[in-house]
Amino acid sequence: MDELDRIVTAALAEFAAAADPAALENSKAGYLGKAGALTVLLKSLGKLPAADRPAAGAAINEAKVKLESALAARRDALADAKLERQLASEALDVSLPGRGRGIGGLHPITQTLERIETLFRSLGFEVADGPEIEDDFHNFTALNTPEDHPARSMHDTFYVEGGHVLRTHTSPIQVRYMETHAPPIKIIAPGRVYRVDSDATHSPMFHQVEGLWIGEDVSFADLKGVFTEFLRNFFERDDLEVRFRPSFFPFTEPSAEIDMSFGDGWLEIAGSGQVHPNVLKAVGIDPEKYQGFAFGMGPDRLTMLRYGVNDLRLFYENDLRFLRQFA
Ligand code: DAH
Repeated sequence: MDELDRIVTAALAEFAAAADPAALENSKAGYLGKAGALTVLLKSLGKLPAADRPAAGAAINEAKVKLESALAARRDALADAKLERQLASEALDVSLPGRGRGIGGLHPITQTLERIETLFRSLGFEVADGPEIEDDFHNFTALNTPEDHPARSMHDTFYVEGGHVLRTHTSPIQVRYMETHAPPIKIIAPGRVYRVDSDATHSPMFHQVEGLWIGEDVSFADLKGVFTEFLRNFFERDDLEVRFRPSFFPFTEPSAEIDMSFGDGWLEIAGSGQVHPNVLKAVGIDPEKYQGFAFGMGPDRLTMLRYGVNDLRLFYENDLRFLRQFA
């Protein structure tokens, strides 16, 4: 049975050397397969003298069991090694810092609008809204600006289909609010507005915040008090000077531009005035009983002043290097 020992030794060595499951199964076929060395040996039993057959058969079977268990052990070892390698390559270091998420931030103009809303709410104003695509009546006519009125040419209007316009100011929100609410009315209305205009201080889309306070005795003095208080709060400067400079708007009488002190000079911040009786009439409010003021200011300009930005277009270019400074 030297032959048997030789086969077993060679098989065990080959199994142990198999580097992967495929090589192992190949080796197995060479010994235990149909034409494998051990199988051939078993088949040759018949050639032995009858007396020797039982012992030889038993020895071969024993060898077969030995090889099969060696095979199983090597299969397990290869599977374990594979798992080890996988675990090592997919290792997760839970002590590493997380990647974090960009949480973003509010656009500087949005921050300004929120700040304006907060400050005016503290003065008792509510916040109203309106459509950006307006009809002629709300954008102009109801604001005492009938067709052919020269004041219409003050606005370089974007006209859209159906005789509608992209609202040129937030003033139509006043009209819509007064159409649906009875005095007393005390609102601000922030929003986007559109005009055909583009340079360092003008963008075809920009923002306004409208203000409207209508009651039985809301006067120009209230306008001065409210707006001065607002600007001082906004810039956190009690010594900020505010100037009301006579002006013209069709929807107010008297009208004023509101300027604030800035360095050695003045900067225009808003238009304002006492709401014109024709505007109140257009929305069915009795101008003999009610009066009040309105204003429309430019929050984009307030944002530029607050942060020292000198080109309005920066706000609308979506350059993250610029915007991140405000996050
Ligand atoms: N709507 C005006 C404009 O865009 C601004 C304005 C002026 C609004 C006077 C008002 C106001 O409410 O009273 O130029």
